[in-house]
Amino acid sequence: MNVDPQLDALFKPKSIAVVGASRKPGKIGYEILRNLIEYGYKGKIYPVNPQAKEILGLKCYKSVKDVPDEIDMAVISIPAQIILDVVKDCGEKGIKALVVITSGFSEVGNVELEEKLVKTARSYGMRILGPNIFGIVYTPHDMNATFGPKDVIKGGIAFITQSGALGIALMGWTILEEIGLSAVVSMGNMADIDAIEVAEYLADDPNTKVITIYLEGLKPGKGREFIESMKKVTMKKPVIIVKSGRSERGAAAAASHTGSLAGSDLIYDVAMKQCGVLRALNIEEMFDWARALATQPLAKGNNTVIITNGGGAGVMATDAAVDYGVELLDPPQDLKEEFRKYMPWFGSAKNPVDLTGMATPDKYYEAVRAAFKHPAVHTITVLYCRTAVCDPMELAKMLIETRKEAINKGINKPISVAMIGGVDVYEAMKHLNRNGIPAYPIPERAVSAIAAIIKYSMYVKRGK
Ligand code: COA
Repeated sequence: MNVDPQLDALFKPKSIAVVGASRKPGKIGYEILRNLIEYGYKGKIYPVNPQAKEILGLKCYKSVKDVPDEIDMAVISIPAQIILDVVKDCGEKGIKALVVITSGFSEVGNVELEEKLVKTARSYGMRILGPNIFGIVYTPHDMNATFGPKDVIKGGIAFITQSGALGIALMGWTILEEIGLSAVVSMGNMADIDAIEVAEYLADDPNTKVITIYLEGLKPGKGREFIESMKKVTMKKPVIIVKSGRSERGAAAAASHTGSLAGSDLIYDVAMKQCGVLRALNIEEMFDWARALATQPLAKGNNTVIITNGGGAGVMATDAAVDYGVELLDPPQDLKEEFRKYMPWFGSAKNPVDLTGMATPDKYYEAVRAAFKHPAVHTITVLYCRTAVCDPMELAKMLIETRKEAINKGINKPISVAMIGGVDVYEAMKHLNRNGIPAYPIPERAVSAIAAIIKYSMYVKRGK
């Protein structure tokens, strides 16, 4: 992988110009500037607008060429008709990367202008993200250069999206769901930098643990490069892709949306399997897996133990384990005996381990501790149905404690949790997520997350 160091100017610029920074709240050029300031970007920000003296308290410049300092990156939000002159100015100024928000290029058949845009930028050695994008976020540097939601939560998941509106909407959704992101990259027309190159860059980014991609299709002829590149990226960190346009009708919709050739879905499917990319069916699944992979270690094997206080939840999780190819361990005798200590006589020490509705947080604590300790167990899924004898928050705290103790003793195994119930259960789930244990509202999602970890771990093991 030859990652262009110029991409540092996109993710970690020391200074940013907003060309087309507007004086009017609600306009794209105003909102980008506001997000940059309010999200706390520490570098220098230079609004550029020939009509304005000052915007949001910052001195405004008529052209980037009037800015007295060096500029690493320019976010461009002016109409397509006047863009080439501005790009030339950026080139003459020595700017390294352009984030081109502007629409009206190849996505509407204006291929020639897009080619001129890239050619002009290249002639000055500049790289382009876009055009037709909502911008870029890199949370480790407090940079939100988008007109999307402001308060992106920091974390280890990078999100690359070929769809603009969906990407902006999902930024909001990740805030609601408290999913921590390292980066959000809107790809748009991919006239220059494409999703492959961004993934390669993020593969070496220490702040990114998992790369997620919403993909509609690659440019023609990019298939081989995608496979070769992803093979290398997935050996460094997990990549999860939602590839839409699976059906024939969906593929036609993708073609008219981003102009990408969706290609045969089967080809994409085979390609992704070949290079260790985890293919999620939908956005929810993608972030479910990402949350787990960002916080959990690799699994040493496929032997999973399910610990529950409800038989029904256990059965559903068992079905899901079969569906996703997760092996349910038949607990060895010593482990069964250990489990039996923490359940009434009518419980079950087989897998799923049923602590019964009488289970209290301390019984869960002991059973989960035993599972962490036993070498035959590779991964753990804990299920909880709200009962009056087991307070969900207390349980969440116990689980965090058990895991911490295990890690302190040098034992780290993937764990996922499903908590079924009302408002207090939701709060407990959030507490688990905030403390590095992926928690979900139904058993199937907790098992699916463990399955993703196992699948990725086995792929890495085979590749080494
Ligand atoms: N340099 C810098 N600023 C300039 C300029 C120049 N050469 N020429 C004009 N401007 C200023 C304008 O005066 C205006 O500021 P003001 O609001 O204070 O008057 C500002 O730049 C923006 O220009 P304007 O002509 O008002 O454009 P706009 O804001 O209506 O639209 C885009 C610009 C880029 C937002 C629009 O063309 C566009 O492409 N919209 C779609 C964006 C999109 O959806 N992207 C994909 C998302 S997924």
